Amino acid sequence: MRRGCFIAVLMLVSAVTAYAQWQSVGDVAGFTTPRPGEFLIDAGAAKLRVNVLAADVFRIRLAPSGRFTPDASWAVIKTDWPQVETSVREDTGLLKISTSDVTVEIRKHPLRIAFLDSRGIIINQDDPRKGMAWNGDEVRVWKSMPGDEYYIGFGEKAGRMQRRGTHMTMWNSDIPAYGADTDPLYETIPFFYGIRNGRAYGIFFDNTFWSSFDMGKASRDQYSFGAEGGGLDYYFFAGPAPQQVLSRFTELVGRMPLPPLWSLGYQQCRWSYPNEARVREIARGFRERQIPCDVIYLDIDYMDGYRIFTWNRQNFPDPARLVGDLRKDGFRTAVIVDPGIKADTAYHAYRTGLAGSHFLKNPDGRPFIGKVWPGECAFPDFSRAATRTWWGENFKALAEAGVRGWWNDMNEPCVFDVPTKTIDLGVIHDDEGRKTPHSANHNVYGMEMSRATYEGVRALVPGERPFVLTRASYAGGHRYSSAWTGDNIASWEHLDMAIAMCLNLSVSGQPFVGTDIGGFFGYPGGELFARWLQFGVFTPLMRGHSVINEKNKEPWEYGEEFTVINRETINLRYRLQPYIYTVMEEASATGVPAMRPLLFAYPGDRNGIWNDNEFLFGEDLLVAPVVQAGATTRSLRLPEGAWFYFWTNQRYEGGHDVTVPAPPERIPLFVRAGAILPTRQVVQHADQAPIDPLTITVYPGALQSHSRYYEDDGLSFEFEKGAYFRRSTDQRNSPTATTLTFGAVEGTYRPPRRDVVVRFVDVQGEPASVEVDGSRLRSVARSAAGKETEGWWYDSGDRTVTVQLPETTNERRIRLLPK
Ligand code: GLC
Repeated sequence: MRRGCFIAVLMLVSAVTAYAQWQSVGDVAGFTTPRPGEFLIDAGAAKLRVNVLAADVFRIRLAPSGRFTPDASWAVIKTDWPQVETSVREDTGLLKISTSDVTVEIRKHPLRIAFLDSRGIIINQDDPRKGMAWNGDEVRVWKSMPGDEYYIGFGEKAGRMQRRGTHMTMWNSDIPAYGADTDPLYETIPFFYGIRNGRAYGIFFDNTFWSSFDMGKASRDQYSFGAEGGGLDYYFFAGPAPQQVLSRFTELVGRMPLPPLWSLGYQQCRWSYPNEARVREIARGFRERQIPCDVIYLDIDYMDGYRIFTWNRQNFPDPARLVGDLRKDGFRTAVIVDPGIKADTAYHAYRTGLAGSHFLKNPDGRPFIGKVWPGECAFPDFSRAATRTWWGENFKALAEAGVRGWWNDMNEPCVFDVPTKTIDLGVIHDDEGRKTPHSANHNVYGMEMSRATYEGVRALVPGERPFVLTRASYAGGHRYSSAWTGDNIASWEHLDMAIAMCLNLSVSGQPFVGTDIGGFFGYPGGELFARWLQFGVFTPLMRGHSVINEKNKEPWEYGEEFTVINRETINLRYRLQPYIYTVMEEASATGVPAMRPLLFAYPGDRNGIWNDNEFLFGEDLLVAPVVQAGATTRSLRLPEGAWFYFWTNQRYEGGHDVTVPAPPERIPLFVRAGAILPTRQVVQHADQAPIDPLTITVYPGALQSHSRYYEDDGLSFEFEKGAYFRRSTDQRNSPTATTLTFGAVEGTYRPPRRDVVVRFVDVQGEPASVEVDGSRLRSVARSAAGKETEGWWYDSGDRTVTVQLPETTNERRIRLLPK
């Protein structure tokens, strides 16, 4: 809740760094190959190391003094890349290191690097004038910036998705009520894409210090990135598809673990539900109104004087009973945990923290003390394994009381009473034994806190997947936690910006993202809240939240008309749950996020570069949230191919802009022709009832298309041992038949026996017959169909054929034969 004016000053200082003091890398004197795939290049006193990690992935490190610091990274988890076939050629003035996909061309006088594709076309190159340089501990690389190259990624950045022309800083900062041009914010993910003519490359600058990216603000034909310490160490991903870049990046830094199903339900928070009675009232509020909800949060006031791991017994006299009752009613309870441990010798966490040497220390050995909500606090050193274990074990009582959600806040970390608004830069972190200053650890503090939380809770509740939410993080933090975009504002501008922010976070490797629905500060009113909630259906984290001392913002607080709309909106989230879960499983397996900018799927479509208020959710849904007050229509770009308007099944040809109705109760939503969309019946919480029926809607596409479905118990780690239910489905369309083929189920998980309802939309006339595995299925009257009916019917009104069958796990073929 404090503004970081100091941060603004520091940002200015680093933005106007005078190049005159910089020393650029000089001429190449020679090179060696210490190991296969590794090249060590001498350039004066400096040394450059090039590692070929894959045919399309390279690591570049510069040691200005010639001495590399020991290899260490908080982000990188993959270090054992298989050997790649590499050839080396020396020409006059050039050293060329080639794989099947890419040539790294090193110009010798002076040393400059270029990456070329297999046809010899430059993908990316150092700026010929500046290249790589250093200034004391500072390092920087300048790159050429073609006039038609665009940039996305960079983790959590306010404003538009495309970042060309901007200067950005990476320094985790608590900036409440940030604006479109506030920078930096809470998270650091120093990873970006350059996209040009439909081709993408990626760069990950693995540096945890104060760093900055100048994407053509300082110069029209150069961009640069660098940091105040920590060395020049970056990874280059050659692409060319954006998805390939992301898949490689997440191979390097890891992927999101599969979340528990309930965490993909609607979540309700506010600062704060002050006592047990109000929490119960909120829970009843959902159930009585039949508005689905899975999670209720307790913000800082559940604690005793903001002491982490404690309860305020006056307001929460019997936490286990409360949490247990909520669970019986289908809710999970999530609690906030901040890193600051109140410096109070009567408080067990402070005492055990001191005894175990778990707190960060000033260079003189005394704990660093700074003020946060509880007053004076000490701060755990999450860079130390023993401290992470201690932290995790402290959740025992909360976990035993039944708490299952862990909201890590204020972990930039934010400190109220010092000018820097954070830990003093000279404070020493263990840093896995390296004993480095806060300046080196600041940007990973939040990530390591969420790691300590994730690992601790995983050990305490071994049978269940942990759900952690964090405000601050670093590249790779998605291995432990979901993330939200902090203290936003209830304004249309913020709703609009929320889309771009979630998209950039998603393509930066963090798929489990969301925003404070309705806005944290201020009061949204009914229309803005309803529109934000509609967008929230398509953010993996769907959480309503509010600042303290603001009017109530729960979905039923805007009058009956909006209560009805908001109920339907949350119902839609639950109807789509099988699809959302499938998409999230894909994100955990491949790194490709749920929320995808259009240019991710359609990199050749130039409109995609600028288009950041519509997006794909998974491969099949195109979402165009309404972000303007009073709007009743929405214009959007339909990518190539054909699309079905979700609400009417009307078919549209893609490749151009369309305008569709957007009445208050409907978010403009399209389904890709060729999609096979799984949905379920509405439930009030994720595990209220098994999916039954599983509805599969078939949107006819071109000749052939393919789809995947994933399900498991939604809670445990048994899926890692094969207890999942995965099947692929194909549709083929020809003039003689429409054929849908369910592949045999893979995996050992079996949901309870259920009906499968297959809806074929846009069917031109009633079929002559429907066959299942070659046998005719009986036609039934729609009105006669009930549970366990086997048969099919045609609805001439909406031109839909519905086929209902008991689910089987073997391969199965359904054919519609026209008259
Ligand atoms: C911070 C968080 C906000 C929370 C508040 C009180 O401002 O960003 O979400 O409600 O602290 O804990």
